[in-house]
Amino acid sequence: MTDNLKLAVIGAGGKMGMRVSANLQKTDWDVKYAEKSPAGVARNEELGRHVVSNDEAVKDADIVVFAVPDVALNAVTTEVVPLMKDGSVVLTLDPAAAYANQLFMREGLTYVVAHPTHPSVFLERHTPEEWADTFGGVAAPQNAVAAMFTPSDHWKPIAEKVIEVIYGPVIKVYWASVHDLAVLEPTLNETIGCMIGQFLKDVLDYTVEVTDMDEDTVKAMFYGHIYIALTNALRGSNPFSDACLLAMDYGREAIIKEDWKRIYDDADLDVVVAKMLKLDKIER
Ligand SMILES: NC(=O)c1ccc[n+]([C@@H]2O[C@H](COP(=O)([O-])OP(=O)(O)OC[C@H]3O[C@@H](n4cnc5c(N)ncnc54)[C@H](O)[C@@H]3O)[C@@H](O)[C@H]2O)c1
Repeated sequence: MTDNLKLAVIGAGGKMGMRVSANLQKTDWDVKYAEKSPAGVARNEELGRHVVSNDEAVKDADIVVFAVPDVALNAVTTEVVPLMKDGSVVLTLDPAAAYANQLFMREGLTYVVAHPTHPSVFLERHTPEEWADTFGGVAAPQNAVAAMFTPSDHWKPIAEKVIEVIYGPVIKVYWASVHDLAVLEPTLNETIGCMIGQFLKDVLDYTVEVTDMDEDTVKAMFYGHIYIALTNALRGSNPFSDACLLAMDYGREAIIKEDWKRIYDDADLDVVVAKMLKLDKIER
């Protein structure tokens, strides 16, 4: 099914470009790497990946991976998609630009977006390499969630195989709509999850500031409690104690706004995606 597959990576020298290119380099596929910045070109050449022009990279490619920043995807797809061969696949790595109608659309091409989940906080890590691979794509297994906004029975299983490789090791590729993938990323993961992660660091720092304890003491108490909070709440490992439940109610009332669910409204999703893409608003 994927024998003789030809791929191209646009933006091969960026953060994701380097990650997906390293994994593609291990395959038998014919992969071409394109990158504009001299530093990004040097990073690839040092690892034995010859860098060619966008035109050269995509002209024969079956699947083109666009590893460029979301704010640049409109300009880059407008330049590159017309150079792609008929019937090929545009693969992007984040739903924001697709959700905001920022990709250059061309009749006859298939458009897929796939985002890595990153290795789970509950993953059993067996080796130092798995422990070190917090992002995923090197040693620690992760999942991916993908969306096709131009459905293709032909390309779906092939795209799934490519997604398994670029984000590998991958346990499973889940499929959703572009809209729902945008609900996961940014709303669930960034607007809520990453915000709460950073908030935990802020409260750790503030606890050190307002007490006589050093950071190690606070971390010792907090890190174990963060884990038990996550595993109790998300895996049902143990019930929270009765007193803890009362403190949790108090904290929720003090900190969380009553109307927090509004960030799931499409109008709010549009606002955050527009901010991320530096657009005035999302055009429908
Ligand atoms: N960084 C992450 O943690 C992460 C995670 C998941 C998905 N993504 C997605 O991956 C994509 C890339 O993000 P990133 O963080 O790797 O970006 P980045 O800024 O690290 O890298 C982008 C690369 O694209 C190159 N580039 C820009 N315009 C180009 C052009 N016209 N032709 C060729 N190369 C060009 C830049 O020189 C740069 O090397 C985005 O869609 C992002 O949402 C990023």
